[in-house]
Amino acid sequence: MDAAALFHPDDTDWWRSAVIYQVYVRSFADGNGDGTGDLAGVRARLPYLADLGVDALWFNPWYPSPLADGGYDVADYRGIDPRFGTLADAEAVIAEAAALGIRTIIDIVPNHISEAHPWFQAALAAAPGSPERERFWFHPGAGENGDEIPTHWVSSFQGETWTRTTNPDGTPGEWYLHLFTPEQPDWNWNHPDVRAEHDDVLRFWFDRGVAGVRIDSAALVIKDPALPEVPENPGAGEHPTQDRDELHDVYRSWRSIADEYPDTRILVGELWLEDIDRFTAYLRPDEMHTAFNFDFLARPWQADELRASIDMTLNAHAPVGAPSTWVLSNHDVTRPVTRYGREKSGFAFLDKRFGTPTDLELGLRRARAASLLVAALPGSLYIYQGDELGLPEVEDLPLELIEDPMHFRSEGVDPGRDGCRVPLPWSGDHAPFGFSPEGVASWLPQPAAWSARTAETQASDPDSTLSLYRRTLALRRELPELHGPDFAWIDGLGDDVLAFRRGDDLACVVNVGTRPIDLPPHTRVLLSSAALEGESLPGGTSAWLRLETASADAPTAG
Ligand code: GLC
Repeated sequence: MDAAALFHPDDTDWWRSAVIYQVYVRSFADGNGDGTGDLAGVRARLPYLADLGVDALWFNPWYPSPLADGGYDVADYRGIDPRFGTLADAEAVIAEAAALGIRTIIDIVPNHISEAHPWFQAALAAAPGSPERERFWFHPGAGENGDEIPTHWVSSFQGETWTRTTNPDGTPGEWYLHLFTPEQPDWNWNHPDVRAEHDDVLRFWFDRGVAGVRIDSAALVIKDPALPEVPENPGAGEHPTQDRDELHDVYRSWRSIADEYPDTRILVGELWLEDIDRFTAYLRPDEMHTAFNFDFLARPWQADELRASIDMTLNAHAPVGAPSTWVLSNHDVTRPVTRYGREKSGFAFLDKRFGTPTDLELGLRRARAASLLVAALPGSLYIYQGDELGLPEVEDLPLELIEDPMHFRSEGVDPGRDGCRVPLPWSGDHAPFGFSPEGVASWLPQPAAWSARTAETQASDPDSTLSLYRRTLALRRELPELHGPDFAWIDGLGDDVLAFRRGDDLACVVNVGTRPIDLPPHTRVLLSSAALEGESLPGGTSAWLRLETASADAPTAG
């Protein structure tokens, strides 16, 4: 079945306001009973995703992988890891999701591969200067004996970025570059084979009906071949491994491949860039369609911070004509329920520590309010699996079960990312909570307290976070105001309040503070993240309202 044919051919703008649910396959649902999530598990739970009301799924890498970095060490771009299933299973997921009106986006990892990939193995076996090595960054070491590291570039996972090889005769050899772990050698994108291979991989998956690709580490792919050290304060385009101007040509050529398909196939960039204009430069009409808005994700739960991020985002996206994205969470960051329950409620990788005091009740309240906020903003929306269940970060995983290289490369200071990757609780009152069959231990253990957070329990509770997400997404789908770009702040409700209008009389009001506030004059409350107190919106609560039309044009005085 041609999955793409199931969507209306005129629906070319679907991605501009789509709700995209991120599936971390390993932890979503275990269909074959081995403790690890898989594609059979996803197929069985597609009706759940349809009921939730999402438009597309983004799958983290599902390729064969030694899992040195949770699958971001890809050994074969055209296959499926046997733990997850087969290529036929992936095709079935794409088709069955499409039959439910859900598109599929997959992860493409162009910066690096797994050391187990045959091209890297061939490069290791070949001599220095050989064509096989040209596809990667092999380099002699510095110093007289070549035993000093070629550059002092720091890994995104901390530590060094070069590993020395051993020659077939046992003597120390060249070094190779890896911006992440040594198991993830970086490709040399100046090599035509590397470009041609990726072009082919894109077509391979587009031909199988995927609606888009999420481009991993998209700003790191090109390096300065002169291998300079990183300047102290690198200006725009001056960093040897980040955001290099030559990247734009790569994504322009990818866009032309996506555009070979008559229905819209999208490119979504993972771009961690501070400079918003450098960020939106990747979203020009002949480059990527959208990119993850990490600025918003990283902001603390404070009205001025959130408002500044929203303004900056909308203002920078408008000139390139690309929609914003709104992302509260993903498989790399601390879950919002935990983050927003902390004194420092913003996110930074280098700030993660064991034992940070957290008020989970407060965090959940704010995370629910945040979900109504992001669902009301113009653009597309990402939901990371488990956020719809209000799951917190799991912060007490037994140390011996932690797998994330971020933990090890920080010498155990950073707890790592496994705490947001714990298998989902589906049903029942004890682990594995329907994730795996009864009696099977899931690959990471679930907290006993998750008995109160299973999808099954929450589905029958109208006040649950799952019910709130379902109502929110259903309403978002129904309300045409939420699908266009129209947006205007409503001022005067107080310093701790974010309020804005979409269309003539639809409003979202978010009380970021702790004290109740008066709502602006309205005819109806369509939705709220917690019960209202009479006509007041309690602290840490959001509401969607139909305004009295007069007040829509004349904002209330504060
Ligand atoms: C991206 C992924 C992350 C991975 C890294 C290296 O940031 O989201 O999970 O570890 O790239 O591929």
